[in-house]
Amino acid sequence: MKTVFISGGAGFIGSALIRMLIAESDWRIVNIDKLTYAGNLESLAAVANNPRHVFRHVDIGDRAALDALFAEFKPEGVIHLAAESHVDRSIHGPGDFIQTNIGGTFSLLEATRGYWLSLDDTRKAAFRFHHVSTDEVYGSLGDTGQFVETTAYAPNSPYSASKAASDHLVRAWHHTYGLPVVTTNCSNNYGPCQFPEKLIPLMIHNAVSGKPLPIYGKGDNVRDWLYVDDHASALRLVFEKGVVGEVYNIGGHNEKTNLDVVDTLCALLDELKPGSVPYANLKTYVADRPGHDKRYAIDAGKIGRELGWRPLETFETGMRKTVQWYLDNSEWVAHVVSGEYRNWLDKNYGART
Ligand code: NAD
Ligand code: DAU
Repeated sequence: MKTVFISGGAGFIGSALIRMLIAESDWRIVNIDKLTYAGNLESLAAVANNPRHVFRHVDIGDRAALDALFAEFKPEGVIHLAAESHVDRSIHGPGDFIQTNIGGTFSLLEATRGYWLSLDDTRKAAFRFHHVSTDEVYGSLGDTGQFVETTAYAPNSPYSASKAASDHLVRAWHHTYGLPVVTTNCSNNYGPCQFPEKLIPLMIHNAVSGKPLPIYGKGDNVRDWLYVDDHASALRLVFEKGVVGEVYNIGGHNEKTNLDVVDTLCALLDELKPGSVPYANLKTYVADRPGHDKRYAIDAGKIGRELGWRPLETFETGMRKTVQWYLDNSEWVAHVVSGEYRNWLDKNYGART
């Protein structure tokens, strides 16, 4: 059986990727996750009993634990998603971002390199280290233009700076040591199982709880939204078919202001869970995020031309599915928000994090 390591598989995107690979491929997955506040095994309930999904509670900074996993499972590749991922948290406390996104990536690269060097020539050539990154490494756009794979790096937040550093490490491990890497830089994801600190799930959760919908600044910052399952399909394609050493940008061609996003959510909620007054009445303008990037937009032409990737969801279909998922899964959100999941985690896995 072919085996792939997925780091960060209990997170938002990692869990979507694992659900998809279990349903649509024959990969055995070793899910390596520290289960921080953002990691949630409830997102993997659908694959919990599948023998092709093996969970290991490991910090990617723990080199000895990684070496033991490589020796035990002998994978054909690694898809590296584990990271601290929330920009606002990185502004309030950058330490964990430096530790996991830079130090953790270094540790995973070194463990991978040690294992890769032990392989025979055929397995060495077939091996892939796929680094999952973000469009935020390119900085902020003005009113026009799009990020392409050759856009100069200009990260502005501690989060994006830490991801940019990890991208550079991955690039260097390829150029210096010959490690067969591919890197993807994706725009904003949305969909089921996203931690309700990010714009879309936070707004849905606050709206149905009757709480204010906090819009930073004027709400005119622009993000380019992609439904998470479309990101997962792009990741599989790049991991299996991407050219070693190449970078692929991934995005949904869905540029929206934050205000557009919140208005769309409010309209969908008015339709799917009508309240006594329109949800838009809850919109509240709050202080802006320090160093707030104005606009992101991805040119996803390369992955389309070279690997044939196309997103399946439009913004309208993806947002409808997302709102419906959160309405149908209020327990998932309640557990995450109430800390009940943390208690369950500490009881079952020990207070390791
Ligand atoms: P997330 O915060 O939902 O999940 C991150 C996962 O990594 C969690 O399960 C967490 O427990 C795990 N983790 C954190 N530190 C770890 C460590 N030291 N060792 C092992 N596991 C650890 O993040 P996400 O939104 O799913 O993002 C996944 C990846 O995709 C990240 O690398 C992020 O930078 C990138 N990305 C995210 C988006 C987006 O819109 N969410 C867009 C582009 C790229
Ligand atoms: O572009 C890809 C990136 O997208 C990923 O690399 C990050 O991991 C992911 O978190 C996301 O970063 P953003 O900062 O763009 O996402 P967030 O959901 O935090 O914010 C989206 C926009 O909404 C941003 O302009 C800030 C604004 N916002 C956010 C929150 C949480 C608000 O106006 N109010 C809020 O309460």
